[in-house]
Amino acid sequence: MLPQPVYILGIESSCDETSAAVSRDDKILANIIAGQKVHEAFGGVVPELASRAHQQNIIPVVDQALNQANVSKKDLSAVAFTNGPGLMGALLVGTSFAKAFALALNIPLIEVNHMQAHVMAHFASRENQPFSRPDFPFLCLTVSGGHTQIVLVKDVSEMEIIGQTQDDAAGEAFDKIAKIIGLPYPGGPFIDQLSASGNSLKFKFPHPKAPGLDFSFSGLKTAVLYFLEKELAKDPTFTKEHLNDICASVQHTIVSILIEKLTEAVNTTGITRVALAGGVSANSGLRKALQQASLKNGWQYFIPEFEYCTDNAAMIAITGYYKFLKSDFAGQQISPFARFTGL
Ligand code: KG4
Ligand code: ZN
Repeated sequence: MLPQPVYILGIESSCDETSAAVSRDDKILANIIAGQKVHEAFGGVVPELASRAHQQNIIPVVDQALNQANVSKKDLSAVAFTNGPGLMGALLVGTSFAKAFALALNIPLIEVNHMQAHVMAHFASRENQPFSRPDFPFLCLTVSGGHTQIVLVKDVSEMEIIGQTQDDAAGEAFDKIAKIIGLPYPGGPFIDQLSASGNSLKFKFPHPKAPGLDFSFSGLKTAVLYFLEKELAKDPTFTKEHLNDICASVQHTIVSILIEKLTEAVNTTGITRVALAGGVSANSGLRKALQQASLKNGWQYFIPEFEYCTDNAAMIAITGYYKFLKSDFAGQQISPFARFTGL
């Protein structure tokens, strides 16, 4: 017999956000996210510092989530946690916390694949929040700092990757190019902001070729690097003078590559329900481009709320809820995995 209602505590600690969320059935009651400023000075996530920050943040974040949700520990039905992929030391903090919490409360433990959870962000919503969830099957373009995937989503637990990056992820391309330009880490949101007042057609960058529905972004990063080196040799103020146009042109190129492959995926599968997920789905250019392509081609499109795009525990709690309904529980012997091996 299922408890009524089902309360899940979700824990996310795969990279540089420590997050805890509480759900009641399929509704999110609280979603607390603690970012880690400590990495900014290094221009990227420093794994050891991330683990230490998670260790400091995890208990306050869980406390805050339970308080905000007005749910007591003894009401929880299960603890769901990100088991991978991600940084091993970072994952170990969330995993160890979740195991200990579930053991102490004598409630089930649920392991969640981070990339599956990004897709499941489409099923997360608050009470009274206007919200439409995609019917199955749908295509999800999951674009994050570590992964770029086109996922054929057949059911909440049945997902097939039909395209992925062969080298850098889309978010990684944003971040690495931002670093070349001299923007802080993570650079994706800065490129997005600066693009707003830039001309996206000012500079032309190549679309690196990848077979089928796969992607490739490392050539783009190199192309931007060589282009800037050449221009800076002639005019040392080039980047500063053309910052907005460079950002807008880079963003336009990345977004076009993504939408081109998504269009190919729709044409190949015949599925016209399309969704975005992952940190890069917060990008205003990508959100707009999906909307425009959908209106033009008659697709039904789904874009998650901002709070469910970048790493968050609401997506972990909601995935946990659906696994709970199937009694899909993990044992105390479970250990995290760093590398993505499948959905
Ligand atoms: O999903 P996420 O929070 O973490 C991973 O699982 O990797 O994604 C983080 C990525 C970073 O590369 C960040 O630069 C990118 O998402 N990102 C954006 C924007 N917001 C976050 N990229 C472009 N435009 C944005 N507005
Ligand atoms: Zn993520």
